[in-house]
Amino acid sequence: MTEPNSLPDGIEIRTLGPADVDAVVEIETEAFTTPWKADTFSSLIGRDGVELVVMVDRSDGVIGYAVLWCILDQGELANLALSPVRRGSGLGAHLLRHVVDVARGRGVQKLFLEVRASNTPAIELYLRFGFSDVGTRRAYYDNPKEDARVMLLELA
Ligand SMILES: CC(C)(COP(=O)(O)OP(=O)(O)OC[C@H]1O[C@@H](n2cnc3c(N)ncnc32)[C@H](O)[C@@H]1OP(=O)(O)O)[C@@H](O)C(=O)NCCC(=O)NCCS
Repeated sequence: MTEPNSLPDGIEIRTLGPADVDAVVEIETEAFTTPWKADTFSSLIGRDGVELVVMVDRSDGVIGYAVLWCILDQGELANLALSPVRRGSGLGAHLLRHVVDVARGRGVQKLFLEVRASNTPAIELYLRFGFSDVGTRRAYYDNPKEDARVMLLELA
């Protein structure tokens, strides 16, 4: 990956706090057919092994978020989404790079994720970052029923 590490002007990435939950749920609900509820995000705040981050536009509020689980040397990117109007301009790549850096900093050596088999934008993003396919979970998703591609990024 050769993208610049510096974020665009006016954009920051920071830890998700209670005041961010509603905005995150709004993005989550638009992005996923079986979205996590506010209680789920709230219950994860401050929990060991969970990294919750938001991407914030200083003049526009929360525009994206990511959820990372870390257990010893393994990580799982559980969620990553951008507000629909902010997609397609490189911000998702910035957010993913941040999450990968956080994972590496926590000693993660294998970073896994699942993604809908039809989710081309996300799959292309992950492939660009060096993720590769390691398996398929048949009928993993509902609404609509669909396989998950399981992808892995080796950080060691
Ligand atoms: C996946 C997502 C986070 C990508 O964020 P984004 O800001 O739109 O992505 P970027 O603009 O940073 O694009 C980075 C790369 O992703 C890929 N990509 C992004 N949008 C794409 C599209 N519509 N079609 C194909 N590839 C795409 C490309 O490789 C792109 O690099 P390029 O611009 O040099 O071609 C965003 O589309 C999103 O929020 N989707 C809904 C939620 C979701 O599906 N999350 C993943 C769950 S596993």
